[in-house]
Amino acid sequence: MKVLVIGRGGREHSLVQKFAESPQVAEVYAAPGNAGMEEEAECVPISETSHGELVAFAQESGVDVTFVGPENPLLDGIVDDFKEAGLLVFGPTKEAALLEGSKHYAKQIMKKYSIPTAEYEAFTNAEEAKTYIEKKGAPIVVKADGLAAGKGVVVAETVSQAVEAVDEMLLNRRFGEASKEIVVEEFLEGEEYSLMAFVNGEDVYPMVTARDHKRAYEGDEGPNTGGMGAFAPAQDLPEGEYEFAVESILKQTASAMVQEGRPFTGILYAGLIQTSQGSKVIEFNARFGDPETQVVLPLLENDLLQVILDVLDHKNPELTWKKQSCAGVVVASAGYPGSYQKGVPLPQLDKQPGLFIVHAGTKKVKESYVSDGGRVLLFGKTADSLSAALTEVNEALTVFDRSEDFFYRKDIGQSSIISSNENIE
Ligand code: AMP
Ligand code: GLY
Repeated sequence: MKVLVIGRGGREHSLVQKFAESPQVAEVYAAPGNAGMEEEAECVPISETSHGELVAFAQESGVDVTFVGPENPLLDGIVDDFKEAGLLVFGPTKEAALLEGSKHYAKQIMKKYSIPTAEYEAFTNAEEAKTYIEKKGAPIVVKADGLAAGKGVVVAETVSQAVEAVDEMLLNRRFGEASKEIVVEEFLEGEEYSLMAFVNGEDVYPMVTARDHKRAYEGDEGPNTGGMGAFAPAQDLPEGEYEFAVESILKQTASAMVQEGRPFTGILYAGLIQTSQGSKVIEFNARFGDPETQVVLPLLENDLLQVILDVLDHKNPELTWKKQSCAGVVVASAGYPGSYQKGVPLPQLDKQPGLFIVHAGTKKVKESYVSDGGRVLLFGKTADSLSAALTEVNEALTVFDRSEDFFYRKDIGQSSIISSNENIE
């Protein structure tokens, strides 16, 4: 079979690697893909946003199934366009992707169907938002309704910070249309984790949990990024918490979307906080997380293509997971998530046994790789313990220690190792 993966980041490289492992797959195409994917896929220079060209390519090349990585094309209705053309595609329709595209919509669904989440109100009027903030006090969280490239959330420690965020979003329209409405919600305290599932209508097949590290620097300091590293499974969940999150959050949400007449097909991602009253939702995404995908897919024992075909066919894919841990650490360009240089040559990347390398922002110049983005690579490893996986990843990453052009966090997963008494070797 021929598979088309739409996207160009680390998440999509990981998907390409997994599809390429399938004995059923004769060809993987990536559009537009990245330099690292060229080993496993044929990269096709069509942008994620050019739906018509992608549909035409899939038809002309005899693509059997298409997988959409990023949120923007999903929200722009790429799945609807593929379906209209009679093509098999795995992802939510534009209407179902609104779970990610509008925070207010997601909150309304959660309220209506009693899905655990932070208490909230939505506003288009700045004065009303400020009155609510003053009544509730700080800490409090202000969120732009629409997509804001991961920058639309302000966790305000004081009332004046929250008021400032309201002005920025509603009055100054910092995120354009995406911030013409805001959600103001209760601050939740606890460990964060991500839980993703393959979904088709009421059918929900959950994956193992993962934990992302969003802050740029060690000790969870510095600005938010797209994610500096992750590990799976998230180790320190209390007994029964996973089952609770699957039943009361993922299955309840899938069922809600069916009842709302917007059945969800694709990857449903719940960003959760494990509070003292149990897990609560901080966000939904309508796609695989990045970098969670890079550490979850290596633990999946099934053939990913078969899983998708089964889920589309309403058959149980019988997911099985390695009883191991997977860790992935991102190498970023110095300056990221602010401004950074591109085109910096990467050190020689020797493949060590068992270690995997996922490309996110690289380009090939002559026969060598150079950086081409903020997040450049992810080094990952699956092992019997999280600490063993991390030891090997960190060892391999020392090739970057002499370079001032790149950085990575040396503490990915450390707090979890400490809290579960698993000592790093
Ligand atoms: P998001 O863009 O929705 O993933 O939010 C970015 C980050 O803001 C999350 O990873 C959390 O760390 C934090 N956050 C969002 N909502 C809340 C909340 N209600 N309480 C505490 N932290 C939150
Ligand atoms: N890792 C968070 C996200 O993909 O949105």
